[in-house]
Amino acid sequence: MKIIRNISSMQKYSLKCRDKKKIGFVPTMGYLHEGHLSLIKRARKENDIVVLSIFVNPIQFGPKEDFEKYPRDFKRDERMSKSAGADIIFYPSWKDMYPEGYKTYLEVKDLQDHLCGRSRPGHFKGVATVVAKLFNIVQPFNAYFGQKDAQQCIIIKQMTRDLNIPVNIKVLETFRESDGLAMSSRNSYLLPKERKAALVVSRTLLAIKKNILSGERNINLLSVKANKLIKKEPLARLDYFSFADENTLEKITKLSGNVLVSAAVWIGKTRLIDNFRIGIK
Ligand code: PAF
Repeated sequence: MKIIRNISSMQKYSLKCRDKKKIGFVPTMGYLHEGHLSLIKRARKENDIVVLSIFVNPIQFGPKEDFEKYPRDFKRDERMSKSAGADIIFYPSWKDMYPEGYKTYLEVKDLQDHLCGRSRPGHFKGVATVVAKLFNIVQPFNAYFGQKDAQQCIIIKQMTRDLNIPVNIKVLETFRESDGLAMSSRNSYLLPKERKAALVVSRTLLAIKKNILSGERNINLLSVKANKLIKKEPLARLDYFSFADENTLEKITKLSGNVLVSAAVWIGKTRLIDNFRIGIK
């Protein structure tokens, strides 16, 4: 496995081989978990070359967010990505990605403002910008993302369509711990009692999903139930519990069509997200 730290070397490599070989790309911020590995393994199956990027992108963190303390362990990531089948780790420095005088940012209007965009203003501008840059550098045929970050996936799909970026966006199911907690690098922040409390997120979503599957269609009732379940956990503080149109991310008042049911919950100082999609006739 090769490690490429330099943007121009990565781009030269990709431009040279992309006409003959399919590049599968897994963008990450490192501190890999099984969810990332499942993306790498899928990319391995579907492409000739698998590139993983590790870059903790400063511009997608708010001033009071966890950029400084975001977990980093390159040696561990290197071992894990190698065993999952990556060929290349692209590991740029932030000075290389955002040199002095950097001025270009991307915004995906409307989609960026809902759900997590409300409590993390500017977050998706940072995500869209870095992903577009990474796509230009890595020149992938396929790029892989996890459904846990549902809003991010929808924004990236819209951005690639709008900007005619020739890449297929593949979204893979959320990878979960055996007790249901959605995998996330941020789970490493949780103290043992918080780790237990964190289960309230997946359990509440599951309870709501079961209610919908057994015929409940009243969004108000479902919202009240979700709020109650989360409130019962003393270490949890709800940021949002949302029923949204899966394409526009706009809040819905009637359950029909393709619906994204999602939640963001603070467990102590850690903000966790999770969701499920459901099609309703
Ligand atoms: O999902 C992530 O890890 C990040 O938001 C991404 C897509 C790598 C952009 O920094």
